[in-house]
Amino acid sequence: MWQRAARVLRANWTGTSTVPSRDLYPHQWSWDSAFIAIGLRHLSPLRAQVELETLLSAQWGDGRIPHIVFNDAVPPDAYFPGPDFWRSTEAGRAAGAPADVQTSGLVQPPVHALAAWLVHRADPGLFRARSFLTRVRPRLAAWHGYLLRDRDVGGVGLAAVLHPWETGMDNSPCWEAPLSRVEPAERDAWRRADLNHGAARDRPTDLDYGRYVRLATEYRDRGYAGGGDVGAGGYGRQLAASFCVEDPAFNALLITSECALALIEAEIDAEVESESGTVAPPPGPPPPKTPDASRTRHARADALTQVLVDRLWDPVDELFHCRDLRSGRLIAERGVAGLIPLTLPALPRDIAAALVRTAAGPRFGLDGAARLVPSHDLTSAAFDPYRYWRGPAWFNTNWLLEKGLRLHGEAARADRLRRTLLDVAGASGFAEYVDPYTGRARGARGFGWTAALTLDLLSGRGGLSAGSGGLSEGSEGEVWA
Ligand code: SER
Repeated sequence: MWQRAARVLRANWTGTSTVPSRDLYPHQWSWDSAFIAIGLRHLSPLRAQVELETLLSAQWGDGRIPHIVFNDAVPPDAYFPGPDFWRSTEAGRAAGAPADVQTSGLVQPPVHALAAWLVHRADPGLFRARSFLTRVRPRLAAWHGYLLRDRDVGGVGLAAVLHPWETGMDNSPCWEAPLSRVEPAERDAWRRADLNHGAARDRPTDLDYGRYVRLATEYRDRGYAGGGDVGAGGYGRQLAASFCVEDPAFNALLITSECALALIEAEIDAEVESESGTVAPPPGPPPPKTPDASRTRHARADALTQVLVDRLWDPVDELFHCRDLRSGRLIAERGVAGLIPLTLPALPRDIAAALVRTAAGPRFGLDGAARLVPSHDLTSAAFDPYRYWRGPAWFNTNWLLEKGLRLHGEAARADRLRRTLLDVAGASGFAEYVDPYTGRARGARGFGWTAALTLDLLSGRGGLSAGSGGLSEGSEGEVWA
């Protein structure tokens, strides 16, 4: 299993990053790269470092990490929408898009500080010698700053997304209501490169694509400027963006990454202190202590967890919902995004217990109705076991749930989920996603994060931890503690 997963990651490696899939996604994707680095650290810590630093080198001046970094060696028609559509170097100039690389202008969920911390933990001595954390810290801080400042459209501290692609869960039924207001782009404004490699039955529809292209075009033509401000005018009035949503998974990952960044800052401070301890202090009173950035960040992460609960928790459904910032209302559809806050250390105990009930119950089938947790409520009329994010089970969301279950004292369920994930990943040829009932492969095969997260699961408890650079249980928990 280890060798097979490693082969996928080698086949998808370009020399500076890993493509999610050779055919379907032939460039570098933001949250894919973060999950891939988390697995790659067990195989080659150095490649994991390069993976993250390649992505970070395409960061925009305003702090955003673009959702796609284009490889100019790939033929322009291999993926749509490509560099000719996004025109980042011109349309993104005011927002500080880099001049030497083409990117999209959207973002994806911020898993990067978590990935950087986990990569560092795989070989702290090596990465200390390479100043890895010292180099990535300002970029990660600027990235979080962008999300917490420019994307705080609702004014409560949560980051808003301006396009379904930004959630990573493109055609989730959760987007149906907010997307219904979007006029699809004219049919001649776009083409489908994805259908050359993926089955139409597994992919979003043409109607979805027309709307995605309309939203992306509007954003590009605004120079990729913020979403606006819900402000005093009331919900939706002052919003520049037609689609503007607070998503629980995106924000839970941001909070988890804030915790990871706090650990990174504490680690750098400890390194500086131990170095300065080797030379005699200057004469006179000691200089005033600088405010502890790490502690401040940790406190902010805890406060944001409370905001997430106040803003998106539904005590009747026992699930987090997305909030549509144009209508001001919570979106009724129940997606797997609503379970992801289980990864939060400061989540109140009763809410964690309720989330586990929801995951285990008929909607998400963790305790037996499904093999893996689906991307959408099994009982919803919109559920579809084949089509992209409308029901199939994904490996990254199940991996996150495995971590969340372990964090909140559900070791037996976590162990079971881990075993099923490994079985299904291997049997499906490391598929992009699977039918949640049967585990049968859908979408692309040889998918980057499926292979990478397999390595991570194999490296954990009961796996190949000895000798494979796996994390001990204590340090793993600390990321979320
Ligand atoms: N996931 C999108 C696609 O299918 C873009 O990020 O192309």
